[in-house]
Amino acid sequence: MERTYLMVKPDGVQRSLAGEIISRFEKKGFKIIGLKMLQISRAIAEKHYGEHAGKPFFAGLVDFITSGPVVAMVLEGSGVINAAREMMGATNPLKAAPGTIRGSYGIDTGRNIIHGSDSPESAAREISLFFREDELFSYNRDVDRWIY
Ligand code: PPS
Repeated sequence: MERTYLMVKPDGVQRSLAGEIISRFEKKGFKIIGLKMLQISRAIAEKHYGEHAGKPFFAGLVDFITSGPVVAMVLEGSGVINAAREMMGATNPLKAAPGTIRGSYGIDTGRNIIHGSDSPESAAREISLFFREDELFSYNRDVDRWIY
């Protein structure tokens, strides 16, 4: 089954949106296999967003993502990487479709509530950056026969 890394950013935690966001993915049918709150260090933030080093927004992005706790999760399910990105909506919340997470709750690109992996390669990299193997759970859900 495909896996992705999602993270409720500090603004989402401060605005008490973590539960709502987790709930959307659970109700969709995706399985949570890892979940925790953490405060990201600057070193990990710079690694996570390494591909954007040198871009004008990089310093602000690192400041922002390290400014408070985040809720990190790993979801598993068929097509979860792209489906989660669709559920998040466009990077700029003003351009995100109504009903998506960013379209429902955000206004500013620098405060866009949630991060999600954009490819299988970035999912694998981000999952291993934030979760140890023993923090990821393999379990059966009876409900899966009603989802698949
Ligand atoms: S790019 O240049 O197109 O590759 O960048 P993009 O994929 O749009 O965004 C990469 C991440 O940077 C965040 N971002 C910003 N943060 C703060 N301010 C500004 N102006 C800004 N522009 C982009 C964007 O939300 C992406 O972070 P994640 O966590 O992946 O959403």
